[in-house]
Amino acid sequence: MTESTTENRAFVDVVKVTKVYSPDIVALQNISLSVDRGEILFLTGMSGAGKSTLLKLLCCMERPNKGLIEVAGRDTGKLKKNEIQELRQQIGIAYQDFKILPRHTVFQNVAMPMEVMYKPAREIRDRVSELLDSLQMSHKKDLPAGKLSRGEQQRVAIARAAVNRPALLLADEPTGNLDHEVTKMVMNLFLDLNNSGSTIIIATHDTSIYEGTSHRMVKLEHGLFN
Ligand SMILES: Nc1ncnc2c1ncn2[C@@H]1O[C@H](COP(=O)(O)OP(=O)(O)OP(=O)(O)O)[C@@H](O)[C@H]1O
Ligand SMILES: [Mg+2]
Repeated sequence: MTESTTENRAFVDVVKVTKVYSPDIVALQNISLSVDRGEILFLTGMSGAGKSTLLKLLCCMERPNKGLIEVAGRDTGKLKKNEIQELRQQIGIAYQDFKILPRHTVFQNVAMPMEVMYKPAREIRDRVSELLDSLQMSHKKDLPAGKLSRGEQQRVAIARAAVNRPALLLADEPTGNLDHEVTKMVMNLFLDLNNSGSTIIIATHDTSIYEGTSHRMVKLEHGLFN
């Protein structure tokens, strides 16, 4: 019994978390959320509702003022700097503002998280090619990422987040600049990752990507879950 309880524990557990940005912007107010291992969760809500803030708390880019955040069984508030780095190796993040390296090529941007993990060059080449193919970006692989359109940069950010098949994928407005066709490619990529075990949280305004799916959707309103 104890073992199965451990197995079924939430992969992400947010308990009564408040985040205030200096001096007095309350981005999240006493929110709680559990995400199971292997779940795909859509996080919705109007602009300014606190979606990106919640994702930043999950990857320890920001710290909460109050409350508990557990990711992969670790209480993030108790982690030392090197332990945060270890935890972040299990997390892939596609940032809302991409955070790509503009002078590096598309290939180099996507390969970077695998290089940080000292993966063999052949494995890196194969995985990056597979991802760029699946997002129809192979023909741009040797271009500096800064020369790409926003939709192309968004795909680079998504491929980079997915490249290590992270245990937790956080995607912040991943289809904001994409047309219907490319949105489908991105969602297929997420489903493929999810099938191989990744837990996925997607912050989005795009109702088309969760309507008609069986995945859970939660909505933030002014820093609160309704
Ligand atoms: N670094 C910051 N400093 C101060 N205030 C911030 C900061 N980041 C976010 N905020 C504020 O916190 C609130 C929540 O912002 P957040 O970016 O989490 O919203 P969001 O739901 O992701 O919005 P969007 O849909 O526009 O991306 C907003 O009022 C925002 O202005
Ligand atoms: Mg946001």
